[in-house]
Amino acid sequence: SRADHVRIVEVGPRDGLQNERQTIPLATKVELVERLARTGLTTIEAGSFVSPKWVPQMANSAEILEHVLTRTPQSPHPITYQWLLPNVKGFDNFLAMWKAKAQSGQDAYPTPPPSPGTDNGPALNTSSADPNAMPSSSSGAEAMGKARGASTAPIHELSIFTAATESFTQKNTNCSIAESLKRFEPIMAKAKEMNLNVRAYISVALGCPYEGPDVDPHKVAELAISLLEMGADEISVADTTGMGTAPRTLELLKTLNAAGIDKSDLALHFHDTYGQALVNSVVALEHGIRTFDAAVGGLGGCPFSPGATGNVATEDLVHCFHSLGASTGVDLEQLSEVGEWISQELGRANDSRAGKATLAQ
Ligand code: HMG
Ligand code: MG
Repeated sequence: SRADHVRIVEVGPRDGLQNERQTIPLATKVELVERLARTGLTTIEAGSFVSPKWVPQMANSAEILEHVLTRTPQSPHPITYQWLLPNVKGFDNFLAMWKAKAQSGQDAYPTPPPSPGTDNGPALNTSSADPNAMPSSSSGAEAMGKARGASTAPIHELSIFTAATESFTQKNTNCSIAESLKRFEPIMAKAKEMNLNVRAYISVALGCPYEGPDVDPHKVAELAISLLEMGADEISVADTTGMGTAPRTLELLKTLNAAGIDKSDLALHFHDTYGQALVNSVVALEHGIRTFDAAVGGLGGCPFSPGATGNVATEDLVHCFHSLGASTGVDLEQLSEVGEWISQELGRANDSRAGKATLAQ
């Protein structure tokens, strides 16, 4: 319906930058996060706690976390920051920075956490796990923030990741699918104890660089159920290779539905390697999905998925969804400026058509 709100998860600072070959200065990464936080986006994946030997570009994510924890970027609404991690080691590295910064006069694990609109340091996520609850809760928070004229404390979430094929899981995380689930158990237990939300990615859901396009949608459903049963608050179903097409996207969504998975528990994560990301996003929107991952300027790619290019450009997704009557809360012009700026910083062409067109107007 026209009044629907769509939540966009901006993965540019993580998925967008992880594959860049030349070292990106920390200041540029932090500036990207800050600029994105001013566009109306509510959720930003800002870094990852993975092995620096495997993904050197993300090695200084703890410093990005430090920045977010100590210098809350100004925003009229609370921003949720997501931190990607594959194992307990990554979680421990996240926690080390978290505790170090939260100890300086701030309560690390507030229960109940500070209400939106207060500005007393790190807050844990207590928002509903249902992304469809976003419009009412975020507009309430916005009203409070505005009324008090203050910035609001950010919320932190973890992202864990596995994949629908054994070959990709091996290449990406050096373990089997079953082993990856085992690695998540202690993370999930600790996260629940700390009242931290956890999203779980399922990579190669619509095509695998090693096993081809015909990934079994039932395998994706089975994994999604395992992750939800384990306590994941959201599943991000990822077309890592961009091999997904409109009919296969619909088939996958129907399979997930038939398996009893709630649409509100799902996010879709499309890469645009074959130029199908926007079409697939519309298929998912029409199917009732209301959370979508995207990267500003169409940045992105996975180092372990050869040839895969960026995520769907956030600007393109925002332009398209607005044309369909959905609200995103995002200011397209401001976002387009961020896309152009980061593209120039990285010395690459701006991959967002809507972004370039908006700026040319
Ligand atoms: P491994 O080599 O098997 O790890 O890698 P290990 O447990 O044997 O440990 C080896 C060394 O790494 C040890 O250090 C560990 O301490 C260290 P050493 O004793 O040799 O000095 N180590 C770590 N260091 C920092 N942070 C950690 C960590 N873990 C171990 N978390 C591992 C296994 C999972 C760590 C590795 O394969 C890895 O980091 N993989 C991550 C790959 C990655 O980041 N991929 C891209 C993100 S996923 C993606 O892009 C897809 C997505 O966008 C959705 C989609 O589009 O599909 C989400
Ligand atoms: Mg990705």
